[in-house]
Amino acid sequence: MTQKKGFIDVVVGLQWGDEGKGKNIDELLSRGSYSAVARFQGGANAGHTIKLRDVTFIGHIIPSGCLQKNIELFVGNGVVIDTVSLIKEIKQLKDLGFDVKARLYISNRAKLVSYLHPFLDQADEHRRNKLGTKIGTTFRGIGPAYSDVRARRALLIGDVLSPDFKEKESTLSEFHMNFLNMYKEKYGFEIDLEKINEAKEKWREAVKELKKLQICDLSFLIQKRLREGKNILAEGAQAVMLDIDFGDYPNVTGSNTLPANVCLGLGVPHNYLRDIYGVIKAYTTKVGGGNFPARMEDQALEKLFQEAGNEFGATTGRPRMCGWLDLFALRYAISLSGANKIFINKADICLSNKIKVVIGYKQGKKILEEFPLYLNKVTEVVKEEIPGWGKANYGVKNKQKVSKELSSYLKYIKNKLSDLSVKIASVGTGPDRNHFFNWDD
Ligand code: IMP
Repeated sequence: MTQKKGFIDVVVGLQWGDEGKGKNIDELLSRGSYSAVARFQGGANAGHTIKLRDVTFIGHIIPSGCLQKNIELFVGNGVVIDTVSLIKEIKQLKDLGFDVKARLYISNRAKLVSYLHPFLDQADEHRRNKLGTKIGTTFRGIGPAYSDVRARRALLIGDVLSPDFKEKESTLSEFHMNFLNMYKEKYGFEIDLEKINEAKEKWREAVKELKKLQICDLSFLIQKRLREGKNILAEGAQAVMLDIDFGDYPNVTGSNTLPANVCLGLGVPHNYLRDIYGVIKAYTTKVGGGNFPARMEDQALEKLFQEAGNEFGATTGRPRMCGWLDLFALRYAISLSGANKIFINKADICLSNKIKVVIGYKQGKKILEEFPLYLNKVTEVVKEEIPGWGKANYGVKNKQKVSKELSSYLKYIKNKLSDLSVKIASVGTGPDRNHFFNWDD
């Protein structure tokens, strides 16, 4: 039986990503009860913007706690690591005055994203585009990297330290090139050898740097920390609605984003898990393919939300589609994740006197009870209209100062989720670290 002392809390997005989890993670870490933050899935498809006083850092692989000097940073076995991005982030942080090398630990069982994975990602999107089924991936090689993991031909991070790494790498690259040639012959995908060689050079340089980092049996280290009574925050990337098993397949990412994957992605038993913090925005955004039932009908209003919420991808720069809060999808995400505390971000962004909330999905005349297998079969949504609050709540830091419209919106949400035993922990009212107020006590 595991000797339990410390615990793991988890932060996950409950929508389609970009809920602003980095800010909540930063706030949770600043409470002083965690010694480390750990990534357990995903790769450089994630992009979190972290601000500390006049410092802004956009991270993709390095966990969000990097700007807090006493926090250990763990990258678990469930992560597919873009080495070039990782090394670049370490350098950027150093230039900003944060030398993270001594507190960064990488699992020897994490997987390498190879220099050809992003090309394979593009090639497969090219193929899907011809079929009219484009996913809109981030082109970070996530799908191909996880495919290699499942096919048991992936390169592990620990492999870089072994003498036969070069051989393993060239065998895999040859295999990938065959694939790329197939995409060229069958689907007319253009292979740019110059770009590939450039990527190979950069990748090989980055792998040399990777070898100098702390590569370890991270599961062992985490369990040691837990036995020492230290607590860890597990940082989800993407979000529940992009989970490979429970999202709108195939418009999903390559990993399981649910908190259940924390155990597998870090190598810890489930009985260490404590609170599950679910993060949402007061509205919804989505990037990439697939149906988005809650999308705003009014394109001009959608554009206003995009601008006010800075809804452009931190990884790709793509504009995000904006929609109303989707309580039907949210109930599904809470049920799957077991979230017991919720952060509601960007509640200052409302922009209209009346807002809508999606409370159900319809297929023809039928109101759905269960979340559908295919989102594109949803023909209509059931909405409710409630009063909006314009710009009234920007920067509010105190529950007592919240406008009555936002206050009733929060009570409305709480009421709609009352059977799911969740608490609204805090509500974000602006981009700064202290732009939030606590709601439930
Ligand atoms: P991939 O993860 O790059 O394979 O992309 C698969 C789908 O997940 C696409 O629709 C992406 O737009 C979406 N996606 C991946 N990462 C993020 C993220 O961090 N935020 C929002 N969407 C994401």
